[in-house]
Amino acid sequence: MKMRILVTGGTGFIGSHTVVELLCAGHEAEVLDNLSNSSEEALRRAALLAGRDADGIPFHRADIRDRAVLEQIFSHQRFDAVIHFAGLKAVGESTEKPWEYYDNNITGTLTLLDVMRRHGCKNIIFSSSATVYGDPAEVPITENCPKGSCTNPYGWTKSMLEQILTDMQKADPEWNVVLLRYFNPIGAHPSGRIGENPNGIPNNLMPYITQVAIGKRPELGVFGNDYDTPDGTGVRDYIHVVDLAKGHVSALEALRNGCGLAVYNLGTGRGYSVLEVVHAFEKASGIKVPYAIKPRRSGDIACCYSDPSKAERELGWKAQYGLEEMCRDSWNWQRNNPEGYGEL
Ligand code: NAD
Ligand code: UFG
Repeated sequence: MKMRILVTGGTGFIGSHTVVELLCAGHEAEVLDNLSNSSEEALRRAALLAGRDADGIPFHRADIRDRAVLEQIFSHQRFDAVIHFAGLKAVGESTEKPWEYYDNNITGTLTLLDVMRRHGCKNIIFSSSATVYGDPAEVPITENCPKGSCTNPYGWTKSMLEQILTDMQKADPEWNVVLLRYFNPIGAHPSGRIGENPNGIPNNLMPYITQVAIGKRPELGVFGNDYDTPDGTGVRDYIHVVDLAKGHVSALEALRNGCGLAVYNLGTGRGYSVLEVVHAFEKASGIKVPYAIKPRRSGDIACCYSDPSKAERELGWKAQYGLEEMCRDSWNWQRNNPEGYGEL
């Protein structure tokens, strides 16, 4: 059944891919984003990929902390659910600007939730993160693993917002809340039209690799090779962003079925080390990626990968793409869009 969804942060990396999958699955989407870390061009391209006109997706350039604008949007349109991506996400920056992160992510979400309930929209999918597990006691990580201590304010915003949503759902069972804990999203739409558009020096592994491959940066720094992992470098569960986007479409069914509170890991269940990713990328692109071993990055953990079987069991969702396709599509996006969508 067709649902009408408000997508906050819908011009961003994961949001833009999700908008494509929502429309392709027959849903309607409206997007709200303040463009603090994205470009409206992503939405135009998403619309085209979904067979619409470039301006075929209603867009509100607005901030989730702006109650008046949210009131206006919810007064004019009834939404079946909100998929809430909007938030700041740079781990390092969050340690320098904690107030800005708590204000943007927490005040913003509290404002959004209040306006939603005032308008009787009590269905939400929230972008959470594997970071809420902290340094996991064991891998693979199931949803029953206890949450851990976060090493930065960004992580705490995710952990706290999970708690806030959990408490609100408990107090008012009319709410349906799906917390999706993403592992490490990489890749891009196979068309090469939309992808990740990092601002400045990339913090994350794959965008750094693609920028080295295209000649923008001389070499990759590998943050530590003395971890307790097979080759000593950090192990993560990388997931193709299109698989992740499809996970949101599947999660809508849970909302519709009145799931109450539901928590799912979205990952592949397979961990790869930094060097394995580098070598897979070299194979997929045919380009050598020079790297140098550097000291460990503060706050990093050795190994993190999911047990994604709950999402398969309950949502019928399973990642389809492997590391090869993730590398191929990351490279395809970078090569076709050396400047991303242009300067933000
Ligand atoms: P992104 O930065 O590309 O997208 C986030 C979007 O939110 C951006 O378009 C930004 O402009 C917008 N935004 C930020 N603050 C806003 C505000 N106050 N009002 C309106 N719009 C605002 O990031 P992404 O990688 O697409 O991540 C989407 C969500 O998933 C985020 O909540 C992020 O924390 C979460 N997440 C991402 C990862 C990852 O590795 N990419 C991992 C786990 C969780
Ligand atoms: N790494 C390098 N060099 C780089 C960048 C990263 O060696 O230039 C290594 C890291 O040390 C780590 C691995 O590559 O071992 C992955 O690092 P990322 O920065 O790409 O990803 P993280 O696992 O550190 O964190 C990401 C997001 C978080 C999110 C988490 C969820 O940045 O916001 O995934 O698992 F919470």
